[in-house]
Amino acid sequence: MPGVLDSILETVGHTPIVRLHHVTDGAAPDILAKVEFFNPGGSVKDRIGLGMIEAAERDGRLKPGGTIVECTSGNTGVGLAIAAALKGYHAIFTMPDKMSDEKIRVLRAYGAQVIVTPTAVEPEDPRSYYSVARRIAAETPGAVLVDQYSNPANPMAHYLSTGPEIWDQTGGRITHFICTIGTGGTITGTGRYLKERNAAIQVVGVDPVGSILHDYFYTGVMPPAHSYAVEGIGEDFIPSVYDFDVIDDIVQVTDGESFRMARRLVREEGMFVGGSCGSAVAGALAYVRDRALGAGAVVVVLLPDSGARYLSKLFNDDWLRENGFHMGERIRGYVTDVLARRGPSPVVTVRPDAAVGEAVALMRRHGISQLPVVDAAGDIVGVLGERDVLAAMFDPVREGRAADETVAALVTNRIAVVEPGTTLSVLGRIFADTDLAVVRSGDALLGVLTKIDLIAFLTDSAGRDGEPGVGRDGA
Ligand SMILES: Cc1ncc(COP(=O)(O)O)c(C=O)c1O
Repeated sequence: MPGVLDSILETVGHTPIVRLHHVTDGAAPDILAKVEFFNPGGSVKDRIGLGMIEAAERDGRLKPGGTIVECTSGNTGVGLAIAAALKGYHAIFTMPDKMSDEKIRVLRAYGAQVIVTPTAVEPEDPRSYYSVARRIAAETPGAVLVDQYSNPANPMAHYLSTGPEIWDQTGGRITHFICTIGTGGTITGTGRYLKERNAAIQVVGVDPVGSILHDYFYTGVMPPAHSYAVEGIGEDFIPSVYDFDVIDDIVQVTDGESFRMARRLVREEGMFVGGSCGSAVAGALAYVRDRALGAGAVVVVLLPDSGARYLSKLFNDDWLRENGFHMGERIRGYVTDVLARRGPSPVVTVRPDAAVGEAVALMRRHGISQLPVVDAAGDIVGVLGERDVLAAMFDPVREGRAADETVAALVTNRIAVVEPGTTLSVLGRIFADTDLAVVRSGDALLGVLTKIDLIAFLTDSAGRDGEPGVGRDGA
């Protein structure tokens, strides 16, 4: 019978691409959404579930009646659970406690065992969801740790399905592919396929503020990670699935921007999508604006999952209020507005091999308290701040010789990189954890911003309606 599929697994993939009309706020390019909630398990991760299980079967690690173990923010669990249910495997999943209740219930509905672990611990901590999954896999006879973070079958599933679908559906006219990054499977596999078809296609990642990926991508410095509320994206380590070579740019978004955009996608486009879909679209629009992309561009944004998994969170006004999210956009504007209002000022940097004494002289001459540390290749390698110098001066081990040290000995990672098109919401969130933001465009350093620059800008612009700065509540 030509209209009958053999199992639900055959409905994975072949998701539609739908044009966005209203949330784009007049952006010139065609902005097209690849809507992944049409998969049977409700997310893009259905694509990798079957692929990773079949890879484990092929290499002999997974035998009939065996157990699959995975650490998951929920969606990969569903993708694996569907394939496990049909193939008769047991499934055990570990999940960080920030994930929504709905995701845990869904996995249990598929018959999986779910173990909830603390979110706010380092990946190496024995309580982390990575460590607990590893331990369970080692202790359970016949168990296989799927490990989407290092499993080549994860990006391969996107290379074989997501990439070709997007190429065919756009008739090869796609110019930009934009998606969020979690394990990196989607961006790596899809990006690699698309670039093989047309090397000019730009592949852009979207990263939540608090994740390390954006800054690591641009500087190679591993910044401190901070928590954020959007689920499934961003990392506090670099998974081996990543291929940074296929990524051209990464833009940052805040939780607030993500949730606001996800809610707009439901109300204005009729797409009931999850929080990371809001991140993807908010990031895509920031990129389009920053690069001034025109009408010829065809931008495909991947929307990973459904809003059904977040009814108790971003679609629950009480949860938003309790967690301090304001769905009106009160702060408007971009980094470029702050730079323009402040006026030009020289970017003073120091080399890692300079003496601390030289750095202190620079700080005094320019009346600044922190210096970006930039190596001979022009890469930002960190920051030297007055607090680091002072701590070294009082460090008994250094016996009063701090000024003779090299800057490299005292450099820290308390520095963030932003672009001219970075929103002030992102900049404000960055300053909650970091003291210094370097404004970069390509290889050029355009300026250095500290908290007082943002404070001065917002104070000056308060009440001036219609201009960037502090707008009316709910504006
Ligand atoms: C909701 C959601 N969005 C986005 C992603 C990111 O996809 P990837 O892991 O392929 O980078 C994930 C991955 O866990 C996710 O659960």
